[in-house]
Amino acid sequence: MNLLQATQLSHTFECELFSNVSLELNKHESIAIVGMSGSGKSTLLHILSSLLKPNQGKVKILGKDIYTLKNADLAALKRNSLGLVFQSHYLFKGFSAYENLEVSKLLSQQNIDETLLHRLQIHECIHQKVTELSGGQQQRVSIARVLTKKPKLIFADEPTGNLDTKTAHEVMQLFFEYTKLNDAGMILVTHDEHLAYLCDKVYKLKDKALIQVK
Ligand SMILES: Nc1ncnc2c1ncn2[C@@H]1O[C@H](COP(=O)(O)OP(=O)(O)OP(=O)(O)O)[C@@H](O)[C@H]1O
Ligand SMILES: [Mg+2]
Repeated sequence: MNLLQATQLSHTFECELFSNVSLELNKHESIAIVGMSGSGKSTLLHILSSLLKPNQGKVKILGKDIYTLKNADLAALKRNSLGLVFQSHYLFKGFSAYENLEVSKLLSQQNIDETLLHRLQIHECIHQKVTELSGGQQQRVSIARVLTKKPKLIFADEPTGNLDTKTAHEVMQLFFEYTKLNDAGMILVTHDEHLAYLCDKVYKLKDKALIQVK
């Protein structure tokens, strides 16, 4: 069974963003979605990750049609299997970075992995308040928080947007290792073509269609 199967998605806000978009994500696979600003990448990622019901089409995650699931079942799927790393970090601002990870640990019954904190180079600032961290540090804490849950699917919208090139590459390697070791998969939205091409497959959102370019 694949991790995600999206079929014939269409969505319109003021005008039509895309139509007939289909996509499949398998275990151990990473997929990048690129495209011009405003082309609808974030909207597509929201649809794929259960946050926005599309006007048309179906999204199946781990075999379940997510937009027909009962609220409680969808909440359980999100809590147990989905990891969202989005442009706004959604960290709890009044807490320290470590306390944010503890929330994930409690919800998912997993342990906080100290090597992960070292790999992300946040071990030294982990007890500081979120509001005292730089944008890039907050971004890495939100990645650590998501990976602590041990999700099967990672959805990431510009997860390395605030990072320098070297750190961005290290974070990408961490994601690739994570998906291989945990039978997981990742869908990444990025403007960085170089990072995109490190993924197994690359799709471009252009002229309202999703075209595979790698
Ligand atoms: N909630 C919303 N209500 C109305 N219009 C929206 C909404 N969200 C996005 N849009 C519009 O849909 C279009 C695509 O937005 P989206 O955020 O998906 O683009 P994007 O490809 O992620 O762009 P960027 O690369 O700049 O992040 C934009 O024109 C945006 O204004
Ligand atoms: Mg976007």
